[in-house]
Amino acid sequence: MKFTSLDALDLGGISSKSRITVLTGAGISQESGIATFRGAKGLWENHAIEDVATPQAWVKNPELVLRFYNERRAQVINARPNLAHKLLAQLDNDYDVQIITQNVDDLHERAGSHNILHLHGEIVKARSSVNENLIYPISGSVLNLGDKCAHGAQLRPHIVWFGEMVPEFEKAIALTHQSDLLLIIGTSLQVYPAASLVKEVGLEIPVIIVDPEMPRLNSWTHWCFIPKKATEGMEILSAKLMRQ
Ligand code: OAD
Repeated sequence: MKFTSLDALDLGGISSKSRITVLTGAGISQESGIATFRGAKGLWENHAIEDVATPQAWVKNPELVLRFYNERRAQVINARPNLAHKLLAQLDNDYDVQIITQNVDDLHERAGSHNILHLHGEIVKARSSVNENLIYPISGSVLNLGDKCAHGAQLRPHIVWFGEMVPEFEKAIALTHQSDLLLIIGTSLQVYPAASLVKEVGLEIPVIIVDPEMPRLNSWTHWCFIPKKATEGMEILSAKLMRQ
């Protein structure tokens, strides 16, 4: 697979207030101490995904599911945004930045980014198990059996589980169509439909990938791949974009 170098990438059409769409995945939060998903033998913090992150798991053992997400939530609350989140937030000053994240943490928000679409939900929120539009902030890190929505139904984590629809996906497609530049940071592009967003940008739109591992993609020779961790990659990128 051939990629173009950052120096050779044509960013001539990018100017102040251009729309930069940023698709982020678990890799951007790795340097904040939050583990990524893949490469751990299909296990996620020692659990099989189907035991904790599916509607079936919720029916079978809600207590286990709540405990699992309570632990993940505590981890997120104790984590801090890293330099990559912060440099992205700073781009808001000079560009029209839209973040589309697969992450359920709130590190983009805490870094100060303004436009964030969460494709897979938000771990710091709960939602009704009978009405997906009833969403509540969780005070503290714990959601318990017996915590109920306004209709008296059990609250569940506000997470899109495997096998569930991605309610924000149409919005994400529309936002991706508006891109003047697409940045892809820290995602293995293996989970659909999120991964298919990369095919929604026009052929003329520059695309830059930051990831220490080369993602599995078809040959997109006009794309640029920066084989670095998110913080280092964002330092290189923000220096380049600040010179535009
Ligand atoms: P993955 O764990 O599949 O991929 C993480 C990517 O980050 C890989 O390409 C790594 O090479 C890269 N990476 C690791 N450390 C990095 C670093 N310091 N800087 C930059 N990149 C780094 O995570 P996602 O692609 O986000 O869904 O996974 C997509 C979805 O699968 C998640 O949203 C989650 C999971 O199941 C739900 O929770 C619904």
